[in-house]
Amino acid sequence: MSAAALTSLSRCGVLAFRAPVGLVAVRYAQTAAAPAAQPRVKKFQVYRWDPDTPGDKPRMQTFEIDLNTCGPMVLDALIKIKNEMDPTLTFRRSCREGICGSCAMNINGGNTLACLNKIDTNTSKVTKIYPLPHMYVVKDLVPDMSNFYAQYKSIEPYLKKKDETQEGKEQYLQTVEDRQKLDGLYECILCACCSTSCPSYWWNGDKYLGPAVLMQAYRWMIDSRDEFTEERLSKLQDPFSLYRCHTIMNCTKTCPKGLNPGKAIAEIKKMMATYKEKKAAAV
Ligand code: SF4
Ligand code: SF4
Ligand code: FES
Repeated sequence: MSAAALTSLSRCGVLAFRAPVGLVAVRYAQTAAAPAAQPRVKKFQVYRWDPDTPGDKPRMQTFEIDLNTCGPMVLDALIKIKNEMDPTLTFRRSCREGICGSCAMNINGGNTLACLNKIDTNTSKVTKIYPLPHMYVVKDLVPDMSNFYAQYKSIEPYLKKKDETQEGKEQYLQTVEDRQKLDGLYECILCACCSTSCPSYWWNGDKYLGPAVLMQAYRWMIDSRDEFTEERLSKLQDPFSLYRCHTIMNCTKTCPKGLNPGKAIAEIKKMMATYKEKKAAAV
């Protein structure tokens, strides 16, 4: 220290030394070890069922996690359990940011995405995790989505034109206004949180299409480029596909993407009334 002489080292993290320009004070980081954080142990009760273990019955298994060593989301807790405590715990996840829809499950009584759901840091409360309700279970937190996907396929969720000879030749343009009509519909990630929170879907899931699929049916009905609106409406005329919705709105309340499938269903019902009047007038 030829050009500058250390003059003091304060307890509050200020180092002072004499330099050619005068007395210089510099803040420095305290290096003393911080006291170890108190463990924040939280209980997670997780639904378990393994079809490959003969006689296994569904049960809840409790895991304890120190929240100081875990990420903030429920999906972080599940990944920690799988990585460090029980590799047999089975659940779906992929993107961990609310895009793929695969980590949908029932957490503390509500359907939501585990990757978007913050752990309740109140350690006196147990977090309870079940698969999506009223679905067949493949294993642990993995529901069987076959019926849901078959229903989605049944509405033909893609652009349909009467004249297919022009397909792929040029872009199908739409006005800014027409494009805006799809906002709030196209963002659906098909997580099925809404459909599996709908009482009508619980009791008639084989015949009632449910809010997620109906919202996508509506999305294609109102797409200005699609030419099959009437055919799409005609397929929903039976007493179950659409009309099992009783506007209870559980679907809209639970959607983790903030979408409104209940409103989309109400709009289909309005379109259907006009379609039926038009059909009756044509007879
Ligand atoms: S509004 Fe219709 S689709 Fe939504 S929860 Fe109620 S009955 Fe189900
Ligand atoms: S509407 Fe919402 S809850 Fe329903 S499937 Fe789409 S993203 Fe999931
Ligand atoms: S992991 Fe993709 S939505 Fe949660």
